[in-house]
Amino acid sequence: MASLTLLCHGKINWMLRVLGRRNDGYHELETLFQSVSLHDLLTIREASSFSFHCSNPSIPAGNDNLVVRAARAVTDDGTVPPVAIELDKRIPAGGGLGGGSADAALALMGINELLRLGRSRDELEGLALSLGSDVPFFLVGGTAWATGRGEKLVPMESPKTIPLLFVFPEFSIPTNEAFAWLDRTSTDRFEPPMGLQRCRAAVKGGMFSHAEHLINDFEEPVFARHPELGAIKKRLVESGASWSAMTGSGSTMVGAYPDRKRRDRAAASMNELRTASGETIDRARAVPFM
Ligand code: C5P
Repeated sequence: MASLTLLCHGKINWMLRVLGRRNDGYHELETLFQSVSLHDLLTIREASSFSFHCSNPSIPAGNDNLVVRAARAVTDDGTVPPVAIELDKRIPAGGGLGGGSADAALALMGINELLRLGRSRDELEGLALSLGSDVPFFLVGGTAWATGRGEKLVPMESPKTIPLLFVFPEFSIPTNEAFAWLDRTSTDRFEPPMGLQRCRAAVKGGMFSHAEHLINDFEEPVFARHPELGAIKKRLVESGASWSAMTGSGSTMVGAYPDRKRRDRAAASMNELRTASGETIDRARAVPFM
């Protein structure tokens, strides 16, 4: 029977601004998404009935799992399709790297291809947003400016490959809590947007020329509760990173380096922390179906 093995690449946010609260309970965002080499592996096989297995036993594998929800969403009638799915989790869960969202997006696209369900691009985008605010980005991949909940995407040509160092703290931060912390920080705390033109200029300039504008609004409230993350950011910069930030609502910290040698030296100097080396990737590498 036919099968597909898909790499579900994670993301970082070069910048992330929270622009205000909306009436539907979500926040209006501005962010610049970037696909990265870190990935989970998703294998989808045609089978006589549905099954799902995840390599990480601490991730719930029942109906709440985003991959199971994606599998149900992509069929016409909301039933589970006849596929056996295996998820090899390599991206830390709850770390702001969008691993679960990437898995869901690739499950939508993969099942649609494998079973020839004929879902259009527009339909997949709608289904993706129903699964989570970050999921639509993973249908596009590469580098993309996003507004709204994160689903209004303007894809851009990616900067040339940038070496990255990830630091994974021992704890994760629930996204809804991070938003609540932000809301409580102060009434005038919402930052003005960076804007598409400045983002384009940053990407064209290879990111580092605009490093001071590439900020994440979650850092202030999250670092206030977890000062060790601020200390990791400082260490990444001291180790030669041209840019360093928390990704998404945390807790993963990432440093971007001008070359691999400096990145590798930085990794060696932090060997008591849980780290991984990686790099930015473009759309062609991130997404198997265009
Ligand atoms: O969309 P998703 O399920 O990934 O969002 C998780 C939580 O993050 C939401 O329940 C909401 O509290 C918060 N969120 C938000 N504004 C966004 C995205 C997420 O407030 N644009």
